[in-house]
Amino acid sequence: MRSLSDLISAGVQGTRVLVRADLNVPLDTSTGDPIITDDGRIVASVPTLRKLIDAGARVIVVAHLGRPENGPDRSLSLAPVAIRLAELLGQAVRLSTDVAGPDSSAQANALTDGDVLLLENVRFEAAETSKNPELRGVFADQLAGLAQAYVDDAFGAVHRRHASVYDVALRLPHAAGDLIHAEVEVLDRLTGEPARPYVVVLGGSKVSDKLPVIQALLPTVDRLLVGGGMCFTFLAAQGHDVGGSLLEEDQVEACRELLEQAGDRIVLPVDIVVAEALVADARLQVVAAQRIPSDRKGLDIGPHTVAAFTDHLKDAKTVFWNGPMGVFELAPFAAGTRGIAAAVAAVDGLSVVGGGDSAAAVRQLGLDESAYSHISTGGGASLEYLEGKQLPGLAVLENAATESTT
Ligand code: 3PG
Repeated sequence: MRSLSDLISAGVQGTRVLVRADLNVPLDTSTGDPIITDDGRIVASVPTLRKLIDAGARVIVVAHLGRPENGPDRSLSLAPVAIRLAELLGQAVRLSTDVAGPDSSAQANALTDGDVLLLENVRFEAAETSKNPELRGVFADQLAGLAQAYVDDAFGAVHRRHASVYDVALRLPHAAGDLIHAEVEVLDRLTGEPARPYVVVLGGSKVSDKLPVIQALLPTVDRLLVGGGMCFTFLAAQGHDVGGSLLEEDQVEACRELLEQAGDRIVLPVDIVVAEALVADARLQVVAAQRIPSDRKGLDIGPHTVAAFTDHLKDAKTVFWNGPMGVFELAPFAAGTRGIAAAVAAVDGLSVVGGGDSAAAVRQLGLDESAYSHISTGGGASLEYLEGKQLPGLAVLENAATESTT
C-alpha cells in the first residue's frame, strides 16, 4: 500500500485530496440536538488530516454517519461532527449541503491550501452502498471528480465495498492514511505469532456476529473468555435455563459444537447480575450462571466472573478484547465491563481493544486510554480482519481488486 508519506513527498500543495474517514460516532438524540457520546473516531482521524493540511493540501473529507435508509435524514447530518472536527483541528471545517453535487463542487473549487471541507453524510446517496457496481461507479466518478488524489483512512469501513471506500480508489491516485497503517500493523501482530498466553475476551449482544471470528481464533488462542449478551447462548448450549436473558436459539447448536471442540479453552461466566427489567433503578441480584431465575434477565457478568476472568488475564502476553460484558451504558450494569477493562489495561504485553462498543466503553467509563497498547477504530472491520477475510477497502489500496460483495 502506498503510504501517506509517499503521497505527501510526491507533493500535495495546492492539490485537492479526498480523504475517506470513519467519523461514524455514537449520538445521543434524546434531548433534541444530537450530542456525540464518543468522539474517539474523530480524534483518530486528526493525524492524517493534520499532515495533509500542513503539507498545503486542500482537504475534502468524505464520511458516513449511521445507516440512513431513505436519502437525506437531518438527524444523521454530519453537522455535529464538523463542529467537533473543527475544534480538534483548530481551524474551520466547512460542511457541504450535498454529497457530490453542485454545492460540494463549488465549495471544493473554492478551497485554498490547508482548507478542510467535509462532505455531507455520504450514505444520503443510495449509490454509495449499492450492490450494483455500475450505480456505484457513476457516483464514484462524481466523488473522484472533486479531487486529484484519494487517501483512505477509514479503517472502520474497509470491510465495505462502498463507492467512497472502494470504487473511488479505482479512479484516483491513492494512498493509505496513517490510521489504516497503524490498525493493520497491530492486527497483524494478533494473527501472526502472538506472544503467549494469548487470551481473547469477547462480549456484546449477538453470538451470531462473533461466531466466524471465534472459529478463526480458536485454533490459536490459549483462552477465550465469553461475557456480554452472547454468553447466554453458550450457557443454554450447556443445558442451563437463561430466564429472560438474550438468547439466540438458532445458534445454540453452533455454540454446543464449539464447546465440544474447545470447551477446555472457552471460559464462561460463573455468576450473572440479573434484574427484572433493563432500567436504571432496577433491583439487582447476583445469581449463579446455572441458576438464572425464569423471570429475570442477565444484564452483566457478576463479581466472581470478573475475578475469574481477571485471573485468566494476569499472565497473558497478548490480549484482544471486543464487546462489553454487560449493558455498561446503564450504571447498575457497568461493573463487569469496567472490571474487564481494568484487567485488560493491567496486562503486561500487547493489549488491543477492538473498536465499537468496547472502545466506547473505555472512554465513557473514564478509563485511561493510554493503558492499552491499541484501541481500534474498527468494530466489524477489526473482526473481519482477524477472521482472515480479504477486505475490499484494503485490497483496492493494494491494487488487488476483489469480487466478493460485502
Ligand atoms: C462501524 O461503525 O463499524 C463502521 O463505521 C461501519 O459502519 P457500518 O457497519 O454501518 O457499515
